[in-house]
Amino acid sequence: MSERIFIGVAWPYVNGPLHLGHVAGCYLPADIFARYHRMKGNEVLMVSGSDQHGTPITVRADKEKTTPQAVVDRFHPEFLENWERLGISWDIYTSTGTANHRETAQDMFLKLREKGYIYEGTMLLPYCEKDQRYLPDRYVNGTCPHCGFENARGDQCDNCGKPLDPADLVSPRCSLCGTTPQFRERRHFMLKLSAFGGPLLEWLSDKGSRWRPNVVNFTTKFVSQGLQDRAITRDIAWGVPVPVAGWEDRRIYVWFEAVIGYLSASKEWAARRGEPEAWRRFWQEECKAYYFIGKDNIPFHTIIWPAMLMGYEGLSLPYDVPANEFLNLEGRQFSTSRNWAVWLPDYLARYDPDPLRYALAATMPETSDSDFSWQEFVRRNNNELVGTYGNLAHRVLTFTQRTFQGQVPRPGELDARSNELLGKAEEALGEADRSLALCHFRAALGAAMGLAHEANRYLDEMAPWRTAKTDLPATARTVYTSIAVIATLKTLMYPFLPFSSQRLHGMLGFTGEVQAMGWRTRAPEPGTLLPPPEALFVKLDEEEVVKQETARLGVGAG
Ligand code: MF3
Ligand code: ZN
Repeated sequence: MSERIFIGVAWPYVNGPLHLGHVAGCYLPADIFARYHRMKGNEVLMVSGSDQHGTPITVRADKEKTTPQAVVDRFHPEFLENWERLGISWDIYTSTGTANHRETAQDMFLKLREKGYIYEGTMLLPYCEKDQRYLPDRYVNGTCPHCGFENARGDQCDNCGKPLDPADLVSPRCSLCGTTPQFRERRHFMLKLSAFGGPLLEWLSDKGSRWRPNVVNFTTKFVSQGLQDRAITRDIAWGVPVPVAGWEDRRIYVWFEAVIGYLSASKEWAARRGEPEAWRRFWQEECKAYYFIGKDNIPFHTIIWPAMLMGYEGLSLPYDVPANEFLNLEGRQFSTSRNWAVWLPDYLARYDPDPLRYALAATMPETSDSDFSWQEFVRRNNNELVGTYGNLAHRVLTFTQRTFQGQVPRPGELDARSNELLGKAEEALGEADRSLALCHFRAALGAAMGLAHEANRYLDEMAPWRTAKTDLPATARTVYTSIAVIATLKTLMYPFLPFSSQRLHGMLGFTGEVQAMGWRTRAPEPGTLLPPPEALFVKLDEEEVVKQETARLGVGAG
């Protein structure tokens, strides 16, 4: 039975280039999941876009003495190009700067207000006397009231992950000049989160068996402690306008409108297809909605967005929020200001996309923080991709050219050892299927690589290069079986390594898209003429790569 799967992926701020932490955090897992479901024949809608509002954008614009729009215009096209080259297969990747998004966000604002879930209240806003301005949330630092972390920002604590208002901070400081801001009362619109504690706890009650423990524990604890209403408008000029007369000088708070992007992007996708109502299938009919995010975004997707959806009514709530932990780089946290990062455009300019997808999927921070190192990257590329998977395909396909003039041999009756391997291939398909459905990406990749190891062992044992001189039927059996297992591997690897799977698909004599073959083994028919094989992956010089890349880290910081 075919399923309908909605995949929402965190909207990245377009205030600077993407790095590998972003990729491992949510874009790669979402793409693996989307490709897997499409291959299974499920109906998938994967959406995201550039988050172009909020202080991250205005800070960058201020620093570069330019406009927020100029920052957006520089990085949004770069993101689009990066997605394409990395193979992130969006159904739509848009931005929060569209008229459609503004209308959708304003509609939700007005509906929630009509229902009493948004009301006018007062918020204490930090005002810096020295700089003579109201300070946006991220311009205020202080001690977190929840965990005592001394460098919490006015919008969120980086240590415990809780969302904050600047007025919550203990000993607040202006991040521009260091003085203590005054708090002045301002009229603002408030979201009545306090009305959703009970409904949220009830909704969360059956999530424990499916959601990752850190996600469900964090959320349940946070809601149980009691939710407070939060201001969702700000005194800024950059953002979605508040759709109420007299509020022309305010904007909707970035977090309130950005999450609405999931809905507005779905509507834009439907409109672009010429089926303006098609978004409803994913929001108002049977559908599982997954949200791929990094752990710092958890409360916005498991509390605030679900509360907004409950208040609005008639739209599906998240089915799962498989948030990832963080990826570190060479044992240290990614840091833009210290240039401790591998920037995605740089990576893509120097190397192929599949080795990165492989390395990041194999160390994906699913249940704890994990680490990317260049040495490990080269090792995985050379030993696992080139040495195990690529070498298997290459050995079998070149041998087929040499011994059978490039034709898939007729196997005759299979022996027990060959049947055993084919059985293992089916088991691996089943195991990866179950793991992928649960968003256990590392386990699924492990099952695929395990099969490649098995196939290499089989080939070494059967030694077709030796039997070719004495026993051609046995040789044909071995080669046919190996080709069949390679055909399974191209399927298993497809969600992770789409580019090389597509090439292998061609080398196995198939045309069209590998994804259309479905999640199953289909070996080429005996007699099929295979094209001359090419290498799937290229070996990297470990010393060179590690030397060059580590020399780049941390350079030009500040
Ligand atoms: N822009 C935010 C960030 O980079 C994420 C927004 S996710 C959304 O942390 F759902 F709100 F769009
Ligand atoms: Zn904290």
